Amino acid sequence: MTDLDAVLGNAGPTGLKERIAAELAAVRERSLTYTDADDDMLVRQHSPLMSPLVWDLAHVGNYEELWVLREVGGIEPLRPEIDHLYDAFKYPRKDRPSLPLLGPAEARKYISGVRGRVLDVLDRVDLTDPDPLRAGGYVFGLVLQHEHQHDETMLATLQLSRRPGLVRDGELPPGRPAAEPEVHIPAGVFTMGTDTVAWAYDNERPAHRMYLPGYWIDRHPVTNGAYLEFVEDGGYRDPRWWLPQGWEWVERNGVEAPLFWTRDGDTWWRIRFGREEPVPPDEPVQHVSWYEADAYARWAGKRLPTEAEWEKACGGRTYPWGEADPGHLARWANLGHRAARPAPAGAYPDGASPYGVEQLIGDVWEWTDSWFQPYPGYRCFPYEEYSKVFFGETYRVLRGGSWATHPCAVRTTFRNWDYPIRRQIFAGFRCARSEE
Ligand code: AVJ
Ligand code: FE
Repeated sequence: MTDLDAVLGNAGPTGLKERIAAELAAVRERSLTYTDADDDMLVRQHSPLMSPLVWDLAHVGNYEELWVLREVGGIEPLRPEIDHLYDAFKYPRKDRPSLPLLGPAEARKYISGVRGRVLDVLDRVDLTDPDPLRAGGYVFGLVLQHEHQHDETMLATLQLSRRPGLVRDGELPPGRPAAEPEVHIPAGVFTMGTDTVAWAYDNERPAHRMYLPGYWIDRHPVTNGAYLEFVEDGGYRDPRWWLPQGWEWVERNGVEAPLFWTRDGDTWWRIRFGREEPVPPDEPVQHVSWYEADAYARWAGKRLPTEAEWEKACGGRTYPWGEADPGHLARWANLGHRAARPAPAGAYPDGASPYGVEQLIGDVWEWTDSWFQPYPGYRCFPYEEYSKVFFGETYRVLRGGSWATHPCAVRTTFRNWDYPIRRQIFAGFRCARSEE
């Protein structure tokens, strides 16, 4: 079964259009919820690392216009004079607030105008056309995933703003301790990447056979409690655990704990969407950089898994538990901002991979040891600025999605990437080690 079936139900072309329309409505409702704030909140730059929220909002509409209306619909640009403002490569994030951006009301009007025409294109497009943007609704998958990715970015901006809101106290299942904290994955060949997942990005393709020696991987992501032992053991003051660039980063920035943590006597607190609370020991740690993850792993006598090791531990399916559609995800993974936090370690025994590795999907993005590089046989589609320009030894790969990731924007083959110093994303990690 393809990812498209998994996400949208196993429907024929007509049903597929209805499901795409429903997903488009849902993602837009999400974006509008995150930007349901006063104008100051939307136009202000909460951090030089992030765009103003109003930029993300108009950018998702502009992207939708570019790909669905112009490329597929053959429709002339609606507002060609604004294109350059929403080109992510034109101006650095820190300069975006001083651009003549559309204001909040104008931005909402623009994106809803685009959306109306997108639904017309959806109505008349032939999703069985072999053109790769049309086949299986690929272009709609592209814009859906893109908008959900920006929604997650907006959540990171809101978290950085330290203003209250969007906490969402949704119920999550309780944790369970792992009887066996590490899982052994035997040596052998597995298939990495995909040729069949319908909405997979170019960077997930092609599927290729890959041999890995046997290794051990943590059953659960590393928890706050475990990470705290590293903190309390003086981990941030001991250069032995850090790569030289990581140590330099710690010293220059005075880093001594994950982002958003503060110490008060013997208690560690965190700030989460403007609310202060004690750090919960059994939740996966988040808001750590790749350097911190790497240092913790070395302190623990382990290492980060490569992305191949991470993906092999998923067991070769679209999701670790199989191919099932997102209607059932509540039982298997913490995705889609049900609550604004990771679930405790061990919360999803039913979501385990065939090897018994848990919480691979959802909760926290997991840093891996790998640079973001193309797979052998990579072919760029549909544009270089999604993946190709980021390949090299600058970005580390993250896998598995977080509590903030929508189910249609993650799967076992999905690859995310970021700078090794990045901490505002909802990222944690698990450890691995080679066989002796
Ligand atoms: C895949 C999350 C690294 O947000 O920078 C958004 C996704 N690409 N707009 C990002 C993306 C174009 C990208 N990441
Ligand atoms: Fe974008």
